[in-house]
Amino acid sequence: MSRERKILELKEKIEKAKLGGGQKYIDKQHERGKLTARERIFLLLDDKSFEELDLFKTHNCSDFGMENKKIDGDGIVTGYGTIHGRLVFVYSFDFTVFGGSLSKSVGEKIVKVQEMAAKNGAPIIGINDSGGARIQEGVDSLAGYTEIFLNNVLYSGVVPQISAIVGPAAGGAVYSPALTDFIFMVRKSAYMFLTGPKIVKTVTHEDITAEELGGADTHATKTGITHFSYDDEKSLFAGIRDLVQYIPQNNLENTPFLENEDTPNRIDEELNYLVPDNPHKPYDMKKILYSILDMGEFMEVQKYYAQNIIIGFGRLNGKSVGVVANQPNYMAGVLDSNSSVKAARFVRFCDAFNIPIITFEDVPGFMPGTNQEFNGIIKHGAKLLFAYAEATVPKITVITRKGYGGAFCVMNSKQLRGDFSYAWPSSEIAVMGPEGASEIIFRKEIKESDNPGEKLTKKIQEYREKFANPYVAASKGYIDEVIEPKITRYKLIKALEMLANKRDNIPVKKHGNIPL
Ligand code: HXC
Repeated sequence: MSRERKILELKEKIEKAKLGGGQKYIDKQHERGKLTARERIFLLLDDKSFEELDLFKTHNCSDFGMENKKIDGDGIVTGYGTIHGRLVFVYSFDFTVFGGSLSKSVGEKIVKVQEMAAKNGAPIIGINDSGGARIQEGVDSLAGYTEIFLNNVLYSGVVPQISAIVGPAAGGAVYSPALTDFIFMVRKSAYMFLTGPKIVKTVTHEDITAEELGGADTHATKTGITHFSYDDEKSLFAGIRDLVQYIPQNNLENTPFLENEDTPNRIDEELNYLVPDNPHKPYDMKKILYSILDMGEFMEVQKYYAQNIIIGFGRLNGKSVGVVANQPNYMAGVLDSNSSVKAARFVRFCDAFNIPIITFEDVPGFMPGTNQEFNGIIKHGAKLLFAYAEATVPKITVITRKGYGGAFCVMNSKQLRGDFSYAWPSSEIAVMGPEGASEIIFRKEIKESDNPGEKLTKKIQEYREKFANPYVAASKGYIDEVIEPKITRYKLIKALEMLANKRDNIPVKKHGNIPL
């Protein structure tokens, strides 16, 4: 064969391989309202940056006539490229090939890019649209999955791992995404569950659709398993591109810097008037975040789950920060089991990837009640405490109003190695709220009074004047500075500059034992 012919043959082979299961299956994929594996990569990566690997790799199965059904690439497209000019690795399940099911070869292709991502210190993004284990391959497929799981665990905290769910993810297939740092789901065509509606019906007699059982909205609101949800795939991939800009390439890199037009000493007079005089009145903590962060931009994570705490990414003077904030607008910003776990995992992500954590605090305490106690709020609250205590990145707290009791200790207090605690003049920092405290310590006096109701109100007022302010804590050094709200942005940026070379550590050990 001539050289020209060989080149032509190669080109033909590449063109054919890129069609995956073929035009008929591509059309079917589009009819289902889904994009193909390659169309997704095109949306995710910078234009023309994708370099594909293992395009000609096929499966090795010879059961059930599979030896006659070999398709180049075998159900997954893998490779690397760039997002905003920075290297990322990617794998994208190809539903047009045996429903994107996972064969041993598919597993090997994924493992290869996982290892490349770890060796070269770059994020890895998995795009999931798969019928699960390749049924014809049996246990080989299970082995393939498990090797992926192992790498998910080994490289957790080494390179950021991101999952997009844009089709089915059922059975054990959900565990790789669950082990990654962030999950993005699209509404309608994506679902994640361990057992599907049919098995649910057989075992528990419940009638439920796939969407209700494991769709994007279910995981965004009820389980918190998805961190981001979108109406269409295009916006989902744009979302991943945004997230990647906030995070470093690996655990040895510093926080990314993105130049913008905001100024470090910008002040916002409105902040001085944002917290209501009445301590029982709610307000929206997000207004504070939008005011303080660069360009008013905040990428919220798990927006619809445990909304009493807000987590997400922003920038201060161009540098990424992780934000954890109580939300007085939702359940008065109280800490419960779900919000504690939500924030704890986020704090650990930021710490693993050298992203400073800014905590905005307005917390009346932990949520009382049998529901929470029986649900294990003790161990869930301890997770947040553990995460903050362990974190060695720069950690700054701004107390906007309430900082009461155990919740005050947990929310990045100075004693948990918080670097700075700033308090607004509206802060109330004490062991408990004036109402509860007065009922306990003045019980005898109130009981013996001629007018117990009036006496209680008086005592509450006395307690509030004496303790419900930032100055007692500041006089003892538990607060570094009481600041005017309007200069908070400036103060945070100065503090972060000072902490830029912070070094802190934890005792040498195999690993801690976070209360799971
Ligand atoms: C082999 C599969 C497959 C699989 C789908 N296909 N799943 N081939 N192994 N797991 C094939 C179908 O035969 C079909 O081929 C093509 O992919 C498209 O599938 P459709 O059923 O036409 O698509 P759709 O109607 O969209 O339904 C998608 C689906 C359904 C809901 C995912 O295909 C399905 O239920 N698949 C089986 C899911 C499953 O039980 N997987 C194993 C789970 S056990 P043709 O050529 O006919 O078009 C598991 C254990 C993992 O995953 C444990 C890890 C630790």
